Amino acid sequence: MKRLKKSQNIVIATVMVCVLGLLLYFILTSSKPSTAKKPNIIIIIADDLGYNDVSFHGSSQIPTPNLAKMATRGIILDRFYTQSTCTPSRTALLTGQYPIRSGMQGYPLKAGENRSLPLNMPTMPLHFQNLGYKTHLVGKWHLGAAYKEDTPLGKGFDSHFGYWNGFVGYFDYVSFSKMDNGTLVKGLDLHDQFEPVWGSQGRYATELFTERSLDVIEGHDVRVPLFLVVSHLAAHTGQNGSELGVPDVDQTNHEFSYIQDPRRRLYAGVVSHLDASIGRIMAKLDEKQMLDNSIVLFFSDNGAQTVGMYENSGSNWPLRGVKFSDFEGGVRVAATIYSPLFHKKGYVSEHLIHISDWLPTLYSAAGGDVAHLGQIDGIDQWDALTNNNPSNRTEILINIDEVDENFAIIRDKFKLIQGSYHEGTFDQYYGDSGRGPENPTPNPNHTTTDLSWCRAPDQTPILNCTKGCLFDLDKDPCETTNIIESEPEIANQLYEKIAQFWKELVPQRNKDTDPKSDPIFYNNTWCTWLEDASCHKTTNIERISR
Ligand SMILES: *[C@@H]1O[C@H](CO)[C@@H](O)[C@H](O)[C@H]1NC(C)=O
Ligand SMILES: *[C@@H]1O[C@H](CO)[C@@H](O)[C@H](O)[C@H]1NC(C)=O
Ligand SMILES: *[C@@H]1O[C@H](CO)[C@@H](O)[C@H](O)[C@H]1NC(C)=O
Ligand SMILES: *[C@@H]1O[C@H](CO)[C@@H](O)[C@H](O)[C@H]1NC(C)=O
Ligand SMILES: *[C@@H]1O[C@H](CO)[C@@H](O)[C@H](O)[C@H]1NC(C)=O
Ligand SMILES: *[C@@H]1O[C@H](CO)[C@@H](O)[C@H](O)[C@H]1NC(C)=O
Ligand SMILES: *[C@@H]1O[C@H](CO)[C@@H](O)[C@H](O)[C@H]1NC(C)=O
Repeated sequence: MKRLKKSQNIVIATVMVCVLGLLLYFILTSSKPSTAKKPNIIIIIADDLGYNDVSFHGSSQIPTPNLAKMATRGIILDRFYTQSTCTPSRTALLTGQYPIRSGMQGYPLKAGENRSLPLNMPTMPLHFQNLGYKTHLVGKWHLGAAYKEDTPLGKGFDSHFGYWNGFVGYFDYVSFSKMDNGTLVKGLDLHDQFEPVWGSQGRYATELFTERSLDVIEGHDVRVPLFLVVSHLAAHTGQNGSELGVPDVDQTNHEFSYIQDPRRRLYAGVVSHLDASIGRIMAKLDEKQMLDNSIVLFFSDNGAQTVGMYENSGSNWPLRGVKFSDFEGGVRVAATIYSPLFHKKGYVSEHLIHISDWLPTLYSAAGGDVAHLGQIDGIDQWDALTNNNPSNRTEILINIDEVDENFAIIRDKFKLIQGSYHEGTFDQYYGDSGRGPENPTPNPNHTTTDLSWCRAPDQTPILNCTKGCLFDLDKDPCETTNIIESEPEIANQLYEKIAQFWKELVPQRNKDTDPKSDPIFYNNTWCTWLEDASCHKTTNIERISR
């Protein structure tokens, strides 16, 4: 009897343990936030940031500890290519196509120009909406705003807080445009959906956009996946194209007193605030328990504008060229991606990746079938990234500018480039190396990748690529030595490829600015002027001072 009782007890105890275990399981799983299976996707875009202006490229002249952390725990994308300017880059990002497919390969959109992404190309946020994501854009758009359907809300974003044109002031959010008749016009370009936001004037742009991004994350219902693009003004110049805005100039000058060039000191302040923004976004994702199921991507839309119009004192050192140029300095940019979902991380990816690849890559990471994206130039690199497997991309069309008659294409390690922006304006080597002993020592615990070895001695004559140059980017990422004579076969193959793309190219659709867009008609704000029923129209134009 005793034995029986004992075995009965065992049975009862076992059942109890099972029940308790099950209960515990349910309590544990239900108290955990029900994270959606699809990963949250956060894309943070810097504007005109230099290759040399992040710590993970070997110089700590401008310390960027938050990016360094992302890079160390994630993946440094060392051969990541964009287009050489804003509008074409953002076109490639959102459509997964080379800009020549839609006539967007030329000069960036001017404020007041009636041009937009083509109607027949579904955008990245639209694809993510279709996968059940909530889609938000904070910050810069620069892909058209003549009609409402040209704006972010018309192109697949559920919300937009930010600006429609190329850049605004860091504190006043005013966007300028030189109209084609030479008149300078200006107006507020800060919109919450379509509504002008006057109340945020005086706030610092990087902080304003960061705080809006934190609000989006905070208010997000974690049962659905999040697609958030944070598109910063930093490190573009603001106002009339020369402002490098920081909240406290004295503090910035003090913090970066070891930098000689006063404009680069300010630039360092701008980049430093940008880096802080990344830290705050990561912390908020963590706090909301979303980070474990997130993919956070950071890159610059093109290289720094070290010289010329909108010069920002950024540095693409040791690379050749700047924004607007198809040399590496214009298109090979700082980029890193972080995700706890990666099987392999903490490495430097040497695989070729083009900005058009993010659409299929992230779509694939979200469980989408890339076949649904149709015929696109972008290539799904998710497997290549998460497993550090060889990439399926062997070639990148950097661009064909059929008006300026220049082009560049990369295949494996070879790059063919012919002609240059405005007859060689930006063909040289520019920018601070940031490697003098006066600069802070890089943190040895951070993963970095460094191309300083490739720089040609300063006396080396600048190559003229008017008739075509071929470079071996493995041996010569600084594009110092033309090997076109010794590799005629490769050059010919690449010329053939260019000829093929040229046949398929849609001519540039750039237009003159439309005088009707002048903010003077809209209470000094930029408005969707060809669909202006809900805009605040100026009743007495004469009374507004310009
Ligand atoms: C604006 O551009 C679109 C697309 O090219 C065109 O259909 C439309 O007629 C243009 N509107 C004006 C007022 O020029
Ligand atoms: C922009 O404004 C600043 C400050 O007022 C001035 O020094 C600079 O010359 C202006 N630049 C241009 C390109 O107009
Ligand atoms: C890469 O290419 C191989 C061979 O063509 C193909 O089997 C594979 O599915 C491709 N991978 C991706 C991610 O597209
Ligand atoms: C390259 O040479 C051409 C003539 O062949 C000349 O017109 C052009 O200005 C030169 N470009 C540079 C950057 O020196
Ligand atoms: C690097 O890591 C070591 C060991 O964890 C630590 O002691 C040291 O403080 C770190 N160095 C820096 C500069 O963070
Ligand atoms: C040029 O365009 C602006 C903006 O529409 C207009 O206000 C101005 O009168 C025009 N100037 C001339 C000289 O046509
Ligand atoms: C018009 O602009 C002024 C600032 O210049 C602003 O205070 C006012 O609210 C605007 N009016 C409307 C109706 O938005």
